Amino acid sequence: MARLDVTETFHGITFSGHLHTQDSLNYATNFKFQDTDTVIVTYPKSGTTWMQEILTLVLNKGDPTIAQNQPNWARAPWLEQYYCHEVLKFSSGPRIITTHLPYHLLGPALKQSNAKVIYVARNLKDVAVSYYHFHKMANFLPDPGSFSEFLSAFLKGTVHYGSWFEHVKGWTSHSKDIHNFLFITYEEMWQDLHGALQKVSRFLQCPLAEDELMLAQKYCSFNSMKENAMVNYTLIPQEIMDHSKGKFMRKGKVGDWKNILTEEQSCLVDDVYSSQMADSSLLFKWEM
Ligand code: A3P
Repeated sequence: MARLDVTETFHGITFSGHLHTQDSLNYATNFKFQDTDTVIVTYPKSGTTWMQEILTLVLNKGDPTIAQNQPNWARAPWLEQYYCHEVLKFSSGPRIITTHLPYHLLGPALKQSNAKVIYVARNLKDVAVSYYHFHKMANFLPDPGSFSEFLSAFLKGTVHYGSWFEHVKGWTSHSKDIHNFLFITYEEMWQDLHGALQKVSRFLQCPLAEDELMLAQKYCSFNSMKENAMVNYTLIPQEIMDHSKGKFMRKGKVGDWKNILTEEQSCLVDDVYSSQMADSSLLFKWEM
């Protein structure tokens, strides 16, 4: 099996590390979705794990039993990671499936079904900071170097999973091509988690009573998830994620970039953002 042990490209997108193979990426792009599937799509560090928890809790009416006893990669497996394929093969619908793949790789397969797609986006500056810290603790990713070096690669789109701009614009500009598509932002979830839960439960056509919503809200709060070994990635062997170098559940805030980016870096990002997003009407909240 051909491993992507070093940084390689697959249909123009950069992939690093050993969790993906050419075979597993081909498997993902040719996947037969079922109409009962719900697919979480994100660029890395945009609130993927949070949405996995939200879906688990909404579908279980706020009951945390599954969320607290089954690892997130077993209940919402990664489409493109080879070690999840057995889980996907043996799980019957309705399934929750997670992916970071860009639209041009997954759109064609998704359009063949009525699967529900939830796209979670997060502001670029917070993603860059979160991704930088993640590279430091995730041993399967390359050493990011200094933040400045990482930011430059990130803005060019030469990091794992490619360009944030292409990802966000690719999915949102084709949202009408997907039969059931929900767009939500990390910032929206952060500002009004209760409202976000209601939005997701409406989209899934899974109505929750107020007490069930309150329970779901409690168990998908940052503090609760930080302590939950089923989602905080402390079950992962140290050679894959080294929690002595940083936590997966790091800060969980909007606007943390202000503690890291210099004035100059922030202006650089603004300039690149303006030119890359000139053809998009998306608006992000950068701080709260
Ligand atoms: P930070 O590194 O900024 O803390 P992903 O799951 O897509 O990899 O994203 C991880 C980011 O989401 C991390 O951001 C993590 O702390 C944050 N996150 C996870 N659960 C969260 C929650 N319940 N509330 C707020 N942020 C959360």
